[in-house]
Amino acid sequence: MNTWNRKDLLGIDGMELWEIEMILDAAKAFKGVGERSLKKVPALRGRTLVNFFVEPSTRTRVSFELAAMRLSADVVNMSTSASSLQKGETLKDTAKNLEALHADMIVLRHSSPGSCRFLADRLQASIINAGDGAHEHPTQALLDSFTMREHLGSLAGKKVGIVGDILFSRVARSNIHTLRKLGAEVFLIGPTTLVPRSFESMGVRVCHCLDDVIGELDVINLLRIQHERQRKEYFPSLGEYTALFGLTKARAVRLREGCLIMHPGPINRGVEIDSDVADSARSVILEQVTHGLAVRMAVLYLCAGGKGVPA
Ligand code: NCD
Repeated sequence: MNTWNRKDLLGIDGMELWEIEMILDAAKAFKGVGERSLKKVPALRGRTLVNFFVEPSTRTRVSFELAAMRLSADVVNMSTSASSLQKGETLKDTAKNLEALHADMIVLRHSSPGSCRFLADRLQASIINAGDGAHEHPTQALLDSFTMREHLGSLAGKKVGIVGDILFSRVARSNIHTLRKLGAEVFLIGPTTLVPRSFESMGVRVCHCLDDVIGELDVINLLRIQHERQRKEYFPSLGEYTALFGLTKARAVRLREGCLIMHPGPINRGVEIDSDVADSARSVILEQVTHGLAVRMAVLYLCAGGKGVPA
C-alpha cells in the first residue's frame, strides 16, 4: 500500500503515477462531500492556510479558498497589491513572516517559474503551486484529468488535443506530464511559433494544422493566448489565429461524437473558442471548475498529512 509523504505540491513532473491516482481517487471521495447539504469535513480543523496570489486569478483563488473552508481550515487571502512585496520585501521574507504567524500551508501563484520550489526548500509550511510563470499549474491539470476520467473512464490510449499557446502555458506543461503518465496520447496543436517541435521530446505529437487531426480527438482543450508572457508577436493577428486554430462553429461540427470540449478559463470568447461552442452541451468547462474544488480538497488533505484516500 502506498502512503502519501509529500508536504508540497510543486508540479506533476517528478510525481509517480500512484500519487496522481491517489489525488484523483481522493478527489472522487471529496466530490461526494460537495454534493451533500452539509459540505464541511473536519480534516484541516485548526490548520491555517494562506492564499498568496502574486498574479491575477478568479477561479483558482476562490477554489482553493472554498476547498480549505470545506476542510474546516482557517483561511487568509493575500494579493500583491495589498502585500509588502510592493514595499520591496522579498518573497522569502514575506513567506517567512507568514510562517512566523503559524501558517501551515501557503498556496502560491507567482510569475516566476521555480518560485514555489524556492519557498518549499526554505519553509516548513506546505507550499502548493497555484501556477508559477509558464512552468506548472498542477491542480489545473489534475482537475482536467479528473474531468476527463469522469466522462471517458481510463485515459489510456485516449487522444487529447491541447490547442494554442503551448509555449507560454503552465496549464499545457502540467497537462502533458499528467496525461502522459495516465497513458493518453497527447497532440499539441498550434502555430509553429507557439508549438515548437522540441515538445516532441516530452512524448507528444506536435501538429501545426488543427483541421488535420480534429476528427480524431476524444478531448479538445483550448488555451488562451498568454499575452502577458509573450514579448513579441507570435502570429500575425488574432483574426488569423482564430481562422486557423479557433474552435469555430464550423470546426466543431467535425469533432467526433462524444468529444469533450475543455478550457481552463478565462475564456476569450470569439478568439480560441466560439461563444456558442463554449456554451454547448459538449462543453465541460464549468464542470472543470466544480471538479477543481474536489481536486484541491484532495491536494490540501494529502499535503496536510492525510496518508491516503479518505474513507
Ligand atoms: C490559467 C492560468 O492561470 O494559468 N487559468 C487558470 O488557472 N484556470 C490559464 C490562463 O490564464 O489562461
